[in-house]
Amino acid sequence: MSVRRLADDAVQPDGFSFSRDNAAWAKSTIEKYPKGREQSAVIPLLMRAQEQDGWVTKAAIEAVADMLGMPLIRALEVATFYTQFQLKPVGTRAHVQVCGTTPCMLRGSEDLIRVCKDKIAAEPLQTNEAGTLSWEEVECQGACVNAPMVMIFKDTYEDLTPEQLADIIDTFEAGNGGSVTPGPQNGRHLSAPIGGLTTLTAEDVPVRPKAAKKTRAKKAAATDTASEPSAGSRPQAMEKPDEIDDLKMISGVGPKIEGMLHAIGIFKWEQIAKWDKAERDWVDGQLKFKGRIDRDNWVKQAEALAEGGVEEYVRVFGKKPR
Ligand code: FES
Repeated sequence: MSVRRLADDAVQPDGFSFSRDNAAWAKSTIEKYPKGREQSAVIPLLMRAQEQDGWVTKAAIEAVADMLGMPLIRALEVATFYTQFQLKPVGTRAHVQVCGTTPCMLRGSEDLIRVCKDKIAAEPLQTNEAGTLSWEEVECQGACVNAPMVMIFKDTYEDLTPEQLADIIDTFEAGNGGSVTPGPQNGRHLSAPIGGLTTLTAEDVPVRPKAAKKTRAKKAAATDTASEPSAGSRPQAMEKPDEIDDLKMISGVGPKIEGMLHAIGIFKWEQIAKWDKAERDWVDGQLKFKGRIDRDNWVKQAEALAEGGVEEYVRVFGKKPR
């Protein structure tokens, strides 16, 4: 990480004062802390100063230290430690902080930095000509599971490709940053596995045998089979489509099992209709009550539903689906 210093005197303003609203907010924030502990408000006050002026000026640090009755060096330590505080003017529409720590680096952060260099400025912490964009490399932002990622102001944009970052930068530059949804950009739900769950997929929490009456051997025999790895092969998953089928129309699939199927990327009748024996075995291994897939003939039910909906189901089975 680069050394963090205050900006040159040439760009430092002569003084700092909070706006009327921010001053009232600062006063009430300080009052939240016990007497003698007011300096605990240093981070929120510095952040509010940054939000007001776009960056944390030397005068703002001095003013905040004064308000909190703390030595200037302590406030300087805080402002220069956290990369959330910008110590020189940054882009007014977007300051892109690219995480370059190992997980993000292994997943392509160097390509993201190249995008920033191409679209914004060759060097970090320089603004583009219009003063609207800037970038820098920072350390881990705590979203490693969705690497690579960037932070723009208070929001993170994760699971990024270089093309997506280029689009995001263009959108911010056009003044439409609010239209970009923060978080994963690849359809992932929060930090859930992209290919669906691989553990904790049992329909229910297994019922444990009553320990007091069981010997050790009996307890071992009663081990929850739902946590054992499934035999067979995992069926092909798909990203959640805009329109999903009601899997509960298949007899034997209730809301919990449907949730489990969604978690492993099964959303369409036609997917179930194509399951072979190994795939049925694998899914069966995820269920609390084994054997229901073949017993209820999910594949044939799914085939009928996929082919002609309720009408075909009635033709094949002589009754309506659930
Ligand atoms: S390594 Fe990039 S967010 Fe943690």
